[in-house]
Amino acid sequence: MMKLQKSLEQILFGTSLEDKLIDLESLDASEEIKLSKEIKHPGRSREISFSEKQIKFPKVSSFHLDEKKALAMHFFANHELLAVEMMTAALLMFPDLGETNRKSLITTIKEEQKHFNLYISRMNKFGVSFGDYPLNDFFWRQFLSVKTAQEFYALVALTFESANLDFALYYQDVFKKVEDTDSAKIMGIVLEDEIKHVSRGRSYLASSCGAKDLWDYYISLLPEKVTPARGKGIVFFPETRIKAGLSPEFVEKQKNYKDSFKITSRKGWD
Ligand SMILES: [Fe+2]
Ligand SMILES: [Fe+2]
Repeated sequence: MMKLQKSLEQILFGTSLEDKLIDLESLDASEEIKLSKEIKHPGRSREISFSEKQIKFPKVSSFHLDEKKALAMHFFANHELLAVEMMTAALLMFPDLGETNRKSLITTIKEEQKHFNLYISRMNKFGVSFGDYPLNDFFWRQFLSVKTAQEFYALVALTFESANLDFALYYQDVFKKVEDTDSAKIMGIVLEDEIKHVSRGRSYLASSCGAKDLWDYYISLLPEKVTPARGKGIVFFPETRIKAGLSPEFVEKQKNYKDSFKITSRKGWD
């Protein structure tokens, strides 16, 4: 088996954090990839396995407590790890992405690994390890309905990572208010990278959207249970989307999108 596929399979099917965080630096993105087994769920050792148990994201009013900050970091880190796994799965599932798209997706995965490490080292300072709290698999369950690369970018880049633009900026401010500059700095790094990630998804979809309106195309690609409301946080920051190259028209439609989904009026992280 070629090195690219071997590395991707180690990330996805390997069960330890070391497997998930391997260095992707020297990979040849032109190598052939053949899916060797069905993708059902990522490999996860017992310490970092998914849990049915629901826990609540800490309230902003409790962020002066290290313990609550660590819990927030734990949620964020889980999303980074899921991003690594979903993106790796996409590379294995869509062998026709082409070398350029593969390269940019590999760069994105490396940045998600970096985000994961930043959150982990910060919460370790607060005495918390990854896996100390239950880990949910919401993103992964939605990801399983993805059938094409277009659907993947619509769900992951223009929805999950789009919401992360709002969360990163919002919680950067929350950390600043409790004078936790180190944590605020991490949110700033994540925000800058996520702008690039949303932009990469936008550019992939724009190239396959033809004469259609990008917003309509985007909506048509979302899984049944996911609406564009999932692509927004507690407060909507249009300027981050503009930086990601989305048109003012697209951003306006996203901003005004409303459905019965509670998240549009959410008071906290979900
Ligand atoms: Fe990230
Ligand atoms: Fe990302």
